[in-house]
Amino acid sequence: MIITGLEADGFKNLDSVKIFPDKRLNIFCGENAQGKTNLIEAIWLCSGCKSFRGTKDKDFVAFEREIAQLSLEFEDRRRKQDISVAMQKLSARDKNIFLNGVKQKLLSRLFGNLKCVIFTPADLELSKGSPENRRSFLDLCISQIKPAYRKVIEKYEALVFQRNSLLKNISSGISKENELEVWDEQLSRIGSYISVLRYNFTKKLNTYSKKLYKSISGKRRA
Ligand SMILES: Nc1ncnc2c1ncn2[C@@H]1O[C@H](COP(=O)(O)OP(=O)(O)OP(=O)(O)O)[C@@H](O)[C@H]1O
Ligand SMILES: [Mg+2]
Repeated sequence: MIITGLEADGFKNLDSVKIFPDKRLNIFCGENAQGKTNLIEAIWLCSGCKSFRGTKDKDFVAFEREIAQLSLEFEDRRRKQDISVAMQKLSARDKNIFLNGVKQKLLSRLFGNLKCVIFTPADLELSKGSPENRRSFLDLCISQIKPAYRKVIEKYEALVFQRNSLLKNISSGISKENELEVWDEQLSRIGSYISVLRYNFTKKLNTYSKKLYKSISGKRRA
């Protein structure tokens, strides 16, 4: 999958920017604060994800502007597609989003179309940080390949939340211990499905990373 064109206007400090990336490799160089990361953030947004640097919706729109507009064209072996996102400073949450000319209610509906992978210095936490980081990384990757997986994760999180509330109620004597069973049964069913998908994805990742590691380490083992 390659991006063939990106236009950004009024998006942070990107003012009438038009780029036509190379098919293979693109390197953006420039002064500090020139907008390199903003450009990557614009692309990332079109993948249907929240900002990787925690930008709030209203802060996407340039200081002196009312509207931010992004349009992006991309293609894979099967077809060409286009995405456009427009947002107003005063109601940045209600974005005008189109995928191939079809209006989408939410940014997350774009998920799974433009498949992106981001690696930022914060991602070093993936190896250094807590397992929670690794789980959410795996979940993000799997949902790009299998968009329905996102709903499964949301369901799992809701179940954990409900079970935790029940545990509190049990300890304060409002609920009975046998009420846990219904939540445990659902949690173990959905939880094992999630584990299997994470396991399979990790296995695939290992196959690729072994080859990559060999190519950069002069065949020495980790
Ligand atoms: N809403 C906004 N309107 C206008 N400019 C903005 C807005 N939000 C951020 N900026 C500007 O974007 C610039 C930062 O851009 P960005 O982080 O993309 O820079 P960069 O080229 O990646 O720099 P570095 O080399 O330091 O990483 C800053 O000048 C900041 O003032
Ligand atoms: Mg930067």
